[in-house]
Amino acid sequence: MYKIIQKSELSPGVKLYVIDAPLIARKCLPGQFVILRIDEDGERIPLTIADFDRALGSITLIFQEVGHTTRQMGQLAEGDSLLDLAGPLGKASHIEKFGTVVCIGGGIGVAPVYPIARAYKQAGNKVISIIGARNADLLILEKEMAAVSDTLYITTDDGSKGCKGLVIDPLQQMIAAGEKIDVVMAIGPVIMMRSVAEVTRPHGIHTIVSLNPIMVDGTGMCGGCRVNVAEKNKFACVDGPEFNAHEVDFASLMTRQRMYQDYEKLEKGCGGRGSCHR
Ligand code: FAD
Ligand code: FES
Ligand code: MG
Repeated sequence: MYKIIQKSELSPGVKLYVIDAPLIARKCLPGQFVILRIDEDGERIPLTIADFDRALGSITLIFQEVGHTTRQMGQLAEGDSLLDLAGPLGKASHIEKFGTVVCIGGGIGVAPVYPIARAYKQAGNKVISIIGARNADLLILEKEMAAVSDTLYITTDDGSKGCKGLVIDPLQQMIAAGEKIDVVMAIGPVIMMRSVAEVTRPHGIHTIVSLNPIMVDGTGMCGGCRVNVAEKNKFACVDGPEFNAHEVDFASLMTRQRMYQDYEKLEKGCGGRGSCHR
């Protein structure tokens, strides 16, 4: 059992849990994730390790309530426990001194970008971050991102904070102004990651995205997280989740993400037990 030792709400429907998980905290690195189950009847869902404290033996998960399991998880309180927590899973981010790195997080994608941006900064890079959300209320980790970035740009769809527009706007402006960019790291909705890839592709800027296909076992056994990268099948859970954005087939990723939508809707009829998933 993995106890929730701290709970807070970062924005409407976005919760932060600090969880007692000393073995995972000891080994995990930026870019890795866990797969959890709330209880015996629960489905398995992947969440990124948004932060960790090796001394305290805890990890931080930040999640958006989008469906049955994340909503059920949002009902838990400090002192409650999760049944299973498998991890750290996936390959860690490749961190070294590249020069100038632009870190882009859209919506809940800011949570996984944060530990990676911090690691780039600690490795001596100049870190320029761009975080975006639909509106000011939905922006998360602004202070944390500012603390690990040389420059932080904020965008909102409605202009309620920062610049009105999309996260690719400051990126396009930087490129147009001749800013030398060595690496771009982007995490967020698939459509956002695809747009970032299209902006950087003509300029040959190395761009990394963290993919979020449906995952089940997280160990390369079930094939659920299959993604097409450089025209080869890859399993995001063991070969990723980070890949070269210019090699990702985003269209097939979007189709596969929607594969179980009818079953996910059926959960409403499961008496809240999530068992339709099995
Ligand atoms: P559902 O209604 O069941 O599904 C809603 C949507 O979530 C689906 O259409 C699908 O796109 C996605 N989804 C559903 N089940 C899965 C699954 N087993 N695996 C992957 N995606 C699924 N979300 C966060 O809020 N914070 C994170 O840090 C985070 N990190 C992730 C890291 C990885 C490596 C991956 C693959 C996904 C991550 N996600 C994260 C997405 C998160 O796993 C889904 O939002 C969650 O599983 C939705 O479950 P649900 O039952 O609440 O919603
Ligand atoms: Fe099963 Fe990746 S989640 S192979
Ligand atoms: Mg679900």
